[in-house]
Amino acid sequence: MKILVTGGLGFIGSHTVVELQNEGFEVVIIDDLSNSTVEVLDGITAITGEKPLFEQLDLKDRTKVEDFFNRHKDVAGVIHFAASKAVGESVQKPLMYYENNLSTLVYVLKEILKLEHQNFIFSSSCTVYGQADDLPITESAPVKPAESPYGNTKQIGEEIIRDSCKVNADLKTIALRYFNPIGSHPSAEIGELPKGVPQNLVPFITQTAIGMREQLSVFGGDYPTEDGTCIRDYIHVVDLAKAHVVALQRLLQNKNETNFEIFNLGTGKGSSVLEAIKSFERVSGKSLNYKIVGRREGDIVAAYADTNKANDVLGWRTELSLDDAMASAWKWEQKIRNT
Ligand code: WQD
Repeated sequence: MKILVTGGLGFIGSHTVVELQNEGFEVVIIDDLSNSTVEVLDGITAITGEKPLFEQLDLKDRTKVEDFFNRHKDVAGVIHFAASKAVGESVQKPLMYYENNLSTLVYVLKEILKLEHQNFIFSSSCTVYGQADDLPITESAPVKPAESPYGNTKQIGEEIIRDSCKVNADLKTIALRYFNPIGSHPSAEIGELPKGVPQNLVPFITQTAIGMREQLSVFGGDYPTEDGTCIRDYIHVVDLAKAHVVALQRLLQNKNETNFEIFNLGTGKGSSVLEAIKSFERVSGKSLNYKIVGRREGDIVAAYADTNKANDVLGWRTELSLDDAMASAWKWEQKIRNT
């Protein structure tokens, strides 16, 4: 069965392609290479022994999207990662984010509606919850006004899908709300490739440890948490990738209860920034140079997932720990900096 993965050369996309191939799916990737490199294809192939089909294509070009689907009418499912995802950048370039993240979603959905099999998995984010009132966060927690255009594109994206599903009974969709994806494939053949100065915690940790960054700034030590630093639900990217395959199979086997379902994907465990640093130091044997500084604008205090729906309904749970994720992130950092 042929599965289209848009953004399939990106961080989460590439790990999902590996898990799809491991399950015997034929994969075709669309990526515009705006935030990835074509060498990621080699990494995927090195792991699975099978090179995915790949087309470099800008999904903002509607005629190219139509042409792709005219040539791939046998696509049985689509996993849609392709989007810009830097929170800070989205504040500076809102129109780029609304155009790139939403026009592409509309064009892909319009083409899926012409297919025989209309199965769609959407890459969403826990950012839609903002600072949730209750922890752990369930899928019925209210969606709060977005803190950034990036987060807003995830909220609007879900609404576009919800409205499309209401009038297209054959369209079956699942939105997966990720918490904080970290780590790399244990083979160190693929991993996170942040452009420029990393905005996210874990790549900044590993780049500091390898000597690329002088010091990690811990944004805020005075939050109302046990150690004063923010709490997040750090999920290993391999666990996250596997969840996409389980969600796709749910749709392919018509096990979905409605044609628009939402699942939180997290470990269910919150870890503070200092706990994440200690985990890294434990698995790497390195002492990390960090300093607690002022808070970062827009950060929420704490977020971690209620995993009951993903465990009991989707039938998926995480298997890897924070230490596993940190160890794989460190192995990957060493690999890419020493080659
Ligand atoms: C985690 C914690 C920071 C960097 C964002 C998006 C989310 C998803 C994941 C795309 C926070 C602290 C960070 C640093 C630090 N992105 N931190 N020093 O902000 O929870 O989530 O990335 O899908 O949608 O919102 O992740 O890794 O940036 O921060 O102290 O140099 O680490 O303050 O508490 P975040 P993050």
